Amino acid sequence: SRHLFKKMPLYGKKVLITAGPTYEAIDPVRYIGNHSSGKMGYEMTKTALNLGAKVILISGPTHLKLSHPNLELVKVNTAQEMFDHAMQQFESVNIAIASAAVSDYRPKTYQNQKVKKTEDTFRIDLVKNPDILKTFGQNKTHQFLVGFALETNNEVENAKQKLAKKNLDFIVLNSLQDKGAGFKNDTNKISIITKDNIKRFDIKPKPEVAQDIFNEILSFISDGKD
Ligand code: CTP
Ligand code: CA
Repeated sequence: SRHLFKKMPLYGKKVLITAGPTYEAIDPVRYIGNHSSGKMGYEMTKTALNLGAKVILISGPTHLKLSHPNLELVKVNTAQEMFDHAMQQFESVNIAIASAAVSDYRPKTYQNQKVKKTEDTFRIDLVKNPDILKTFGQNKTHQFLVGFALETNNEVENAKQKLAKKNLDFIVLNSLQDKGAGFKNDTNKISIITKDNIKRFDIKPKPEVAQDIFNEILSFISDGKD
């Protein structure tokens, strides 16, 4: 009955999650993309739903499937589409988590016809995509804001810079250090970094990583914030 739902830690809360890669079209048959599987974002979506939240999942192309009465799944291809949907929803959410591997650039012009093979060297001009998470940070009022970072060098320092630059409450650093961590795998090794603290977690399956992330979010929003 209704009073049981109300005991769920995220009952009445709305969570926005971006997930997966983006595909930036070059011509009708080609695109610039990346190897993000979307798994981490989909796992966090399941965790949030289990905690009683309403979730808006804005997902780039992936084969993953998810449906739930409290889930609004928005499928997009490009960074610009992800940005447009995310900004439409941002004001109405309590928690926003950016886990998408958004393409930093897109082809400057889209070729309407399939590009033919001609010269030995071929160039594609790229232009910058909007930064979804940074724009969240600039527009943040009541929202609890979480970002991700995957770095190959100076990981903690770089992650801390992103935390500050994007006005985040915390950033989840995905470590490449151990075999089996990062893109495409079913496990992750993360650290959760705030302005003055770093919490390192063991390598573990993504569903458990998602639970760790929400435990952390809950500990923040239940002591005064929001
Ligand atoms: N992000 C985003 N929109 C973009 C680029 C990144 O929302 N256009 C988000 C990602 O979802 C992630 C965080 O920003 O949560 C950090 O992404 P990352 O690629 O590590 O950082 P960038 O700011 O793009 O910087 P760089 O790639 O140069 O390291
Ligand atoms: Ca980037």
